[in-house]
Amino acid sequence: MHFPAYRPRRLRRTELLRRMVREHHLRPDDFILPLFVRHGRGQRQPIDSMPGQFQLSVDELVREAKEASALGIPGVLLFGLPAEKDAFGSEAYAKDGIVQQAVRAIKDAVSDLVVVTDVCLCEYTSHGHCGVVEEGQVKNDPTLELLAQAAVSHAEAGADIVAPSDMMDGRVAAIREALDDSGYVETAIMAYSAKYASAFYGPFREAAESAPQFGDRKGYQMDPANGDEAMREVALDLDEGADIVMVKPALAYLDIVWRVKADFGVPVAAYAVSGEYAMVKAAARLGWLDEERVMLEMLTGIKRAGADLILTYFAKDAAVALAQER
Ligand code: PBG
Repeated sequence: MHFPAYRPRRLRRTELLRRMVREHHLRPDDFILPLFVRHGRGQRQPIDSMPGQFQLSVDELVREAKEASALGIPGVLLFGLPAEKDAFGSEAYAKDGIVQQAVRAIKDAVSDLVVVTDVCLCEYTSHGHCGVVEEGQVKNDPTLELLAQAAVSHAEAGADIVAPSDMMDGRVAAIREALDDSGYVETAIMAYSAKYASAFYGPFREAAESAPQFGDRKGYQMDPANGDEAMREVALDLDEGADIVMVKPALAYLDIVWRVKADFGVPVAAYAVSGEYAMVKAAARLGWLDEERVMLEMLTGIKRAGADLILTYFAKDAAVALAQER
């Protein structure tokens, strides 16, 4: 019998050949770096479950943003830790709230960086839920007004993109309308469209001090078992005016990333969340895997699945690793 004429190993023989036929290339342009900002000065508080990540005061945040930009990373995503939490998450939409201050400072100091802001209430509410709570329930419609106010306050501070992560129904439309009415027609919306009720957010809730004080988020975030529903969520958000749609988490949901890209052909972001980062860091610390190679392999997989943008705490490390590869 004739041996197969096509021998796939021919093109794997040397690194140069492999480079010639490589289908996907990670670049710093693919990344957005999430950052946590808190009140104070000179603050750089390590987050235990996310080694290498910090709660930063605005001055330190600006340094971090400059570094990211110098590494070729085009954008940062900001999460705020308020001075005080209350039932309605007031600092989320305060003119001089921590995120609003941070956006202004970055915009003043760094010229070539897209500033994305997380729009949600959970970091700002005393109960830790992403919306207004009445009689032990997270109420959808009363929350929309507050989210819209938060988005407008971020746009006013200079945010380029607002990113609602609350999963209330109709919030993209409410935010789009409020932005337009306030004259911020050019502020884009990156919607956390298919955001799952995931245990992978564990370390983030330490970082952002945003764990719900009762119950869980399953009444508003998606059931991890559902795929078709994600397509409905994406369709709704696009219809309501989303410019970029996001799938979150990333690694356990690559089928969703693929389906969204294939079905809608719009800019798709994937959020490689805190738990994905923590798992790699922990195993690497134990000497159980090669951190740099696993990091690049995971990010490549997310890109291959169809993500145009990857939100990742590895953004700086990956940009450095990619620069060394060259
Ligand atoms: C806020 C929000 C969360 C994350 C991003 N925005 C946490 C949550 O929904 O509980 C998670 C990010 C991460 O784990 O890295 N709603």
